[in-house]
Amino acid sequence: MTTETDAMLAEAAPNGVMQTVTVPLGDRSYDILIGPGLLDNAGAHLAGVLPGVRAAIVTDTNVAARYLGTVTDSLAGAGIAATAITVQAGEPSKSFQTLETVVEEILDARLERGDVVIALGGGVVGDLTGFAAAIARRGMQFVQMPTSLLAQVDSSVGGKTGVNSPHGKNLIGAFYQPRLVLADTAALDTLSPREFRAGYAEVVKYGLIDRPDFFAWLENNWPSIKAGGTERVHAIAESCRAKADVVARDEREAGDRALLNLGHTFGHALEAAAAYDPDILVHGEGVSIGMVLAHEFSARMNLASPDDATRVKAHLDAVGLPTALDGMRDRIPDADAMLDYIAQDKKVTRGELNFILTRGIGEAFVARNVPASEVRAFLAAKLGD
Ligand code: GLY
Repeated sequence: MTTETDAMLAEAAPNGVMQTVTVPLGDRSYDILIGPGLLDNAGAHLAGVLPGVRAAIVTDTNVAARYLGTVTDSLAGAGIAATAITVQAGEPSKSFQTLETVVEEILDARLERGDVVIALGGGVVGDLTGFAAAIARRGMQFVQMPTSLLAQVDSSVGGKTGVNSPHGKNLIGAFYQPRLVLADTAALDTLSPREFRAGYAEVVKYGLIDRPDFFAWLENNWPSIKAGGTERVHAIAESCRAKADVVARDEREAGDRALLNLGHTFGHALEAAAAYDPDILVHGEGVSIGMVLAHEFSARMNLASPDDATRVKAHLDAVGLPTALDGMRDRIPDADAMLDYIAQDKKVTRGELNFILTRGIGEAFVARNVPASEVRAFLAAKLGD
């Protein structure tokens, strides 16, 4: 890195609130920088890691209006020429058709294999762009600049990329790690309260998997995380550390990475029942209900104390996340309806139900071959069948 770049970066983080988390994957290791103002200094950070590149910035119609000018100007200031590729905001852009458009625009811009494709946006943009970077010219450089809380703590980290199929979500894709992640915590100031809460469900998840002290810290610090400042940076950095630990152990989800699916088996079933309509339920809300159900089911199986489920529910309630099936009753008339949705999910292996269950807060584990009869009885009791 040049002295000039060093000076620019020192100026960029004058208050010392920036944190760096490394995802340790040998010669594919990369840093996640977390702090306010990173998008204003994106050019200097990028030049430090990938000197001499040209760039394509893939973003969506909402994020472009807010941050595309900032990032383009910053890149230009560091001598990086950039082409912007803007897709429609929303889940439908995670499609083969949009993927083709993005890849063709990258090729039209005559970018070379060593040049960089940047994802500027939330989870949809990150997943779509990462897959485009993985396949354009058989693999270009890739950088994530996540602008939603969900993307900063989950989807931008760990290399899962892809698009949806009519057969289901995320069924087409590749593991493809970025070279750098810039998580600008100030970008979260413009999220709606609902979107912020939904991303926060994934932050809570890391405490529940294996960081009980972090969960306790979240119970006490949630309002400050919402407000911004050092607590927000710490919550995101701790989430990224938790995810980096799991990804380093099991990059391609042969085992432990499945722990990151805590709350997701029930959650995905609820999203499917809501026909993936974000007006009814967004991903993080499904995960919130799913995490409560996973703790309640674990208590029913005598694996964990019911007090843990009560504590998890109390925190998610305090945050304003949904924690019960009540709002979904018209879409899930009975336990079998919910079991049908669960059976369609990726977490079913040769007909066996796989769940992430728990022995208590911070003690999640992968449970294979969970009897469907137990799940049915649990859901029937919850739904009052
Ligand atoms: N979002 C789950 C994972 O990255 O494995």
